[in-house]
Amino acid sequence: MEKIANGVWRWRFGQPEAHTPVTMREKTLQAEALERLGCEDRPPVSQGDIEVKATPRGLQLELPLKAEEHVYGFGLQLHRVDHTGRKKVIRVNSDPVADTGDSHAPVPFYVTTAGYGVLVDTSRYVTFYCGTNLRKGASEHKKQEAKKIGTSEIELYGYQVSEGDRTLVIDIPAAQGIDLYIFEGPGMKQAVQRYNLFSGGGCLPPAWGLGMWYRAYSAAKVDDVMRLAEGFRKDRMPVDVFGFEPGWQTKAYSCSFVWDEGRFPDHEAMLDKLYGMSYRVNLWEHLFVHPSSPMYPDLKPYSGSYEVWEGLVPDLAVKEAKDIFASHHRSEFVDKGIAGFKLDECDSSDFVHSNWSFPDVTEFPSGMDGEQMHNQLGILYQAAIEAPFEAAGRRTLSQVRSSGALAAPYPFVLYSDLYDHKVFIRGVVNCGFSGLLWSPEVRQADSSEDLIRRIQTAVFSPMALLNCWRIPNPPWMQVEREKNVRGEYMDGYEKIRDICRALFEVRMSLIPYLYTSYAKYRLEGLPPFRALVMDYSDDPQTFGIDDAYMMGDSLLVAPMVKGETERSVYLPKGNWRDFWTHERYEGGQSYSCSPGLERIPVFVKDNSLLPLAKPMSYVGESGGFEITVWAYGDAPEPCVLYEDDGVSFDYRDGTYNWVRLAWPQGDSGEAVRNGTYTGDAVNRIVGWERIAHEEGAG
Ligand code: GAL
Repeated sequence: MEKIANGVWRWRFGQPEAHTPVTMREKTLQAEALERLGCEDRPPVSQGDIEVKATPRGLQLELPLKAEEHVYGFGLQLHRVDHTGRKKVIRVNSDPVADTGDSHAPVPFYVTTAGYGVLVDTSRYVTFYCGTNLRKGASEHKKQEAKKIGTSEIELYGYQVSEGDRTLVIDIPAAQGIDLYIFEGPGMKQAVQRYNLFSGGGCLPPAWGLGMWYRAYSAAKVDDVMRLAEGFRKDRMPVDVFGFEPGWQTKAYSCSFVWDEGRFPDHEAMLDKLYGMSYRVNLWEHLFVHPSSPMYPDLKPYSGSYEVWEGLVPDLAVKEAKDIFASHHRSEFVDKGIAGFKLDECDSSDFVHSNWSFPDVTEFPSGMDGEQMHNQLGILYQAAIEAPFEAAGRRTLSQVRSSGALAAPYPFVLYSDLYDHKVFIRGVVNCGFSGLLWSPEVRQADSSEDLIRRIQTAVFSPMALLNCWRIPNPPWMQVEREKNVRGEYMDGYEKIRDICRALFEVRMSLIPYLYTSYAKYRLEGLPPFRALVMDYSDDPQTFGIDDAYMMGDSLLVAPMVKGETERSVYLPKGNWRDFWTHERYEGGQSYSCSPGLERIPVFVKDNSLLPLAKPMSYVGESGGFEITVWAYGDAPEPCVLYEDDGVSFDYRDGTYNWVRLAWPQGDSGEAVRNGTYTGDAVNRIVGWERIAHEEGAG
């Protein structure tokens, strides 16, 4: 076992393949931050515990799994949180319909409640059997129970979960050598932090990226765009990012990467107007290059051997292809003020749409085959699109539909619009195990109740996005007079719009807190959104929770979906406060919550200091937030608030502040600023509010 950094170990067998997540990694391992995370300095899985065998189909590995150990991770798994006793195939695919492991962002990394993580460094469609099978003969001496005749499918075939101490079997096709990277804890949370720091640390979005996002109708023309953009400002609906969908390009499936002058004559004048209204503009695209694209001739020699949608598949693992792609994006878009992109369709599809993408046998100039490229495409695409922003010295927060291993440093949020609301919520719970961010986007809704519930989840998520590419008007204008969940009539769209506005304003008020959580992601590898089991892995009650999550250090979010008037929320041990009413709840038990349609169940950890900003309509170029600090409980613990200029990379040279917030004995708090950032975006603490009354759960 070779030590790679503090708490990171490598076990090697044979000669690993050339194109793996680690060999292709562009980011730098964060050695100092890893050093600061204390650990035992001993491999959590020892050499003798790993069995390996090379076979004609590839490699077969076995790692120990204790009876009480639960397994999490494998990327953006949308159908399940706890993978113990399940089989997972790490194969990129859009809109997986069952719990197979297929995912927009599958990652060959798992972490267990025993407090360590394992990355299998491969781009192959690797399969993990998480305690499903025992070796031949192991059951011979098992006490036989009286025979029961099963008739249901689950009784007969059930999930094959082996009891007692078992193993995790890993099937790696094609490879004849492999590296395993093993991450120490001591807890699950630290193992994940270590994986993220090994990846290069989490991303730090620009502050505006944490505001509200609106993607407009795909067929919109310039007048439709301006009507929407002006409408939001007139109605005081907070929106920071305005997104264009496929209609902005002359060709979209595959892409030309050229503005359509028919729909958008003088698009530069339109962009100037949008910038003048303080919008950040994001453009939809995917990476399949249409023959009419100016990049086509240059990219042709550096592309895969098959087309997709009549377009080239550029091999972004080859420097020349990446440079051609990046420089077109820089000169045509980034230098003209475009703030980010939506990188669509890079996940291929075997389930929902017609079967599209390039075959697994495709040959790429880099030497990768189609299978490896499928699992690497999302990361390569993110790196190519991040490059022009790096060169221009401006941060982006963008969207991507596929990702993979070692993704944490990339400022991209995963999305897809085809899911049930509960699946969207599970995505938020799961993404933090594997260095990913997921947006439970709102496309359109069946009813105002559905809309409001979905917006609530979006507002308390990594990216607050309304993806209205299929509807010409904002979704609050789509709903007619109708009954709400309590059977009362809604007052038409103005009432719904006002409820939406109030929720958007909650998002805006959370930005400084959220920005600080992202700063911890960057510096400490701590995911801003986490499953409860990550923070409370000694509490088995949290092991299966897939409908509530931590947002930052202090908030527990438990979204509701349409049709529910109440839901049960498990609060881990400790005291909690209702975010809206401030009522106190004792943890270690479940509560039934029925907050009414306008509120989502959110709880604040008692003894937290929560900085909340005065909501603005957009984050804007300069000016920090006006913050009121809410102090919960009898003995609020000090915390920190992160600040920098919000847009540039100066923070990498240490130009940022930590504001230490504390509530010493007495009746007011204090804020002490440490750091070197002195620009316009410093925050102003304008008030302190104490919440210390003692009511129990109501
Ligand atoms: C989908 C994508 C949608 C929308 C659409 C436009 O694949 O998930 O959000 O952008 O393409 O064609």
